[in-house]
Amino acid sequence: MNADAAPARILAVANQKGGVGKTTTAINLATALAACDKRVLVIDIDPQANATTGLGIVKDGIERSSYDVLVDEAPMEGAILPTQVPHLWLVPGAVDLAGAELELAAAFGREHRLSRALAEVIDRFDYVLIDCPPSLNLLTVNALAASAGVLVPLQCEFYALEGLSQLMKTIDLVRKNLNPTLQIEGVVLTMYDKRNNICDMVAADVRRHFADRVYDTVIPRNVRLSEAPSHGKPALLYDLRCVGSQAYIQLAGEILRRAGGSEAPPQDMPPPETPPEVPPESSPAAEPQS
Ligand SMILES: Nc1ncnc2c1ncn2[C@@H]1O[C@H](COP(=O)(O)OP(=O)(O)OP(=O)(O)O)[C@@H](O)[C@H]1O
Ligand SMILES: [Mg+2]
Repeated sequence: MNADAAPARILAVANQKGGVGKTTTAINLATALAACDKRVLVIDIDPQANATTGLGIVKDGIERSSYDVLVDEAPMEGAILPTQVPHLWLVPGAVDLAGAELELAAAFGREHRLSRALAEVIDRFDYVLIDCPPSLNLLTVNALAASAGVLVPLQCEFYALEGLSQLMKTIDLVRKNLNPTLQIEGVVLTMYDKRNNICDMVAADVRRHFADRVYDTVIPRNVRLSEAPSHGKPALLYDLRCVGSQAYIQLAGEILRRAGGSEAPPQDMPPPETPPEVPPESSPAAEPQS
């Protein structure tokens, strides 16, 4: 059970627009929450599996992925892997997910596969972050059906709000048909560049549109955030002091405060060589993979 035995908060990190910072947000926010002593699970349901490689898990070594969980109804328990970050676990993604939509087309209860699988392990975590693909397909619908809230990363660029009405419509449809309590957890502005006037215009526009749903924390454009995945590390392990890492620590603090927690954001991270922790309930498949 998690520390306070409250059910985990499940958040879908979603925006059908590509390259807006979903995966960067999922990885680094999860790491920052884990550093605040929260038990965090990242579920990668994107065929690109960027969250998986970004957390240092080598794709070839994966025995069970979110594909097996969604399509073959394999227990999620056996797909949970420890990461280099204490308190942070991952259900890896796989390229096979690209075919999941077709394979599930005629399946009974296909929109609830993820939700049902999560129910078996949910007690072990405080936060679950689902890294969605850049599409409003059945994978994303599974994430929305399983989640309490949607975290929407919005890139500070001219077309930021374009296409967002489709996401809002999908959220409405999921609310009506699958998950009546689904909320917009928050909108996070990403890749903010203070030298670019467009960024301020977009930020003001987004705040007018979503009001207090937009986090005060803004994620700056920061090259360290984009370098970290090639080292298989969250930015917080790659360079804790960089402005990108610090912004995600601030975002975690804001999310915890909004959720009613009083935790102060961590001032420091354990060094990268910290060995992975034993998962809460050890299982054979939870061994670290090389
Ligand atoms: N704040 C940032 N500053 C600089 N680069 C960033 C930042 N956030 C993300 N990036 C980089 O931008 C690219 C897209 O980011 P990311 O993969 O997180 O987006 P995504 O929404 O998950 O993309 P996709 O839709 O393909 O899944 C990546 O190369 C990432 O490293
Ligand atoms: Mg991504």
